[in-house]
Amino acid sequence: MMKGILLAGGKATRFRPATQAVSKQLLCVYDKPLIYYPLTMLIEMGIQEIAIIAAGETVDVYRKLLGDGSRFGTTFTYLTQPEPGGIAQAFLIARHFIGKEKVCLLLGDNIFLNAHPNRIAAMAANTDNAYILALPHRNPSQYGVVSCSRRGEVLSIEEKPQKPQSHFIVPGLYFYNASVVQTAENLQVSPRGELEITDINKYYWKKSTLKVIYPSKKTKWFDAGCPEDLYHAVRVVRQKQKQTGKQIGCPEEAAFRQGWIGRRELEQSMRQNCHSAYGQYLMELMEHA
Ligand code: G1P
Repeated sequence: MMKGILLAGGKATRFRPATQAVSKQLLCVYDKPLIYYPLTMLIEMGIQEIAIIAAGETVDVYRKLLGDGSRFGTTFTYLTQPEPGGIAQAFLIARHFIGKEKVCLLLGDNIFLNAHPNRIAAMAANTDNAYILALPHRNPSQYGVVSCSRRGEVLSIEEKPQKPQSHFIVPGLYFYNASVVQTAENLQVSPRGELEITDINKYYWKKSTLKVIYPSKKTKWFDAGCPEDLYHAVRVVRQKQKQTGKQIGCPEEAAFRQGWIGRRELEQSMRQNCHSAYGQYLMELMEHA
């Protein structure tokens, strides 16, 4: 059984003043909170036990928004991030939650479209290796960057390099076995004062157990970490929803399709949202079920 971590912590200084009083992952991406998108992705990957990590003062807001997970046929464990200390800090915070299981970490501000989450999860569940994704990007210097040989071996992995070795960035979706906790415990804090996820990946790379998954060419990915990128994500989500008539980032629908919830849970969610297009969509889903 793979467990999931949804990281909704961080300082979000690039969003001030909007994030002075509100957590970034609660900002609206077109018609729903940002965190709905990665949450849906975890459900589509078949992950039912999920830890949500957020800053102390916002944990209760997430609890109010998402509940105990039963609405989506999942179990949520809420964990507090004492202070923003980098992505790899998540494994220390979630140490007991992870226990002896494999774990998938997904950043709460990452949005994937057309990624075929079930295929990615099947690949990452296969063996004891660590898995990252690689996606082509026009501006790799802002992210983790991975370069691979033709045979798929990792040649380098760097965090925000000035001279990137490739144009493949590493999005915020990672898979490890339980030993990642120990790896995180032994990390040094980086010059920007964080426990870097790229340092975790470097550790597995040096042990030759870091594997790279290339999602489908149609995959679109957004790190909604600043206003410009969020705006871009809003436009694409809106356009795609209008074109297809389907919601993107609807955890209820994903859970329903997994067979984790039935009409009763759908109806409950629908009643909570009955005056919005989102609620209308859930109603149509129920009627066609
Ligand atoms: C973080 C990671 C980076 C990764 C990115 C994906 O960057 O450090 O390796 O590519 O998330 O969203 P940050 O959001 O801290 O700038």
